[in-house]
Amino acid sequence: MDVIEAILTRHSVRDFSSKPVPKETVMNILELATRSPSGGNSQPWEVFVVSGATIEKIRKMYRERLQGGGAGTPSERPPLPSFIQERMTTVRNERLKLLGLDPADPASAKVFTEWSSRLYGAPVLVVICMDKALSSDLDIGIFIQSICIAAQGYGVDSFIAGGFLSQPDILRRELEIPESLNIVAGIGLGYPNPNSIINTYRSPRRPVSEVVRYKS
Ligand SMILES: Cc1cc2nc3c(=O)[nH]c(=O)nc-3n(C[C@H](O)[C@H](O)[C@H](O)COP(=O)(O)O)c2cc1C
Repeated sequence: MDVIEAILTRHSVRDFSSKPVPKETVMNILELATRSPSGGNSQPWEVFVVSGATIEKIRKMYRERLQGGGAGTPSERPPLPSFIQERMTTVRNERLKLLGLDPADPASAKVFTEWSSRLYGAPVLVVICMDKALSSDLDIGIFIQSICIAAQGYGVDSFIAGGFLSQPDILRRELEIPESLNIVAGIGLGYPNPNSIINTYRSPRRPVSEVVRYKS
């Protein structure tokens, strides 16, 4: 697969099959991702991978936490601008409609909360951390995209989700993440459930002519 095909075919898989991803494949993907550029070659990423019995244990704890009413920590960030909110609402509503649900029904939103609590069935969760003294979000973003594109090259699908980090205390304890590190991102890796309609969803993009201001 060439890089153009990898970029074009990558999309968020929200329902993984239980088929495991071999550790060797995961390590190959992550080794490729370490080729990512970073400011001053600082390579600020620290990676914790969980699969097998441990991810099943974490999945169970997430589900129990959700059932107990602890859906996660509320965001401390300021509200998003309305044009961003609109784009996010558009894809959310499109996904709900694809599932035959009414976006206006508040109960519909619970579907994704429930899926999120079971980590979308991903057999592998990659948790990216960074030293608390650093704020190299750009470097981490590049690293994440490298993981997703490298995974694509290995025929492995991915899903980046803020929701994966909704229970940081569980991740910190089970993955033995030191207090000196911030938990920054979570990426699910695996193979798609072939019967899942949600995996047929492809999100729209703004046209490049709208995004780019080009002077020559
Ligand atoms: C930093 C980040 C956090 C995300 N968090 C979530 C999430 O919590 N729940 C979710 O359904 N999708 C999440 N996504 C996936 C985006 O919704 C998705 O990438 C976007 O809609 C574009 O769709 P695509 O990945 O299929 O191209 C996240 C993506 C990124 C990059």
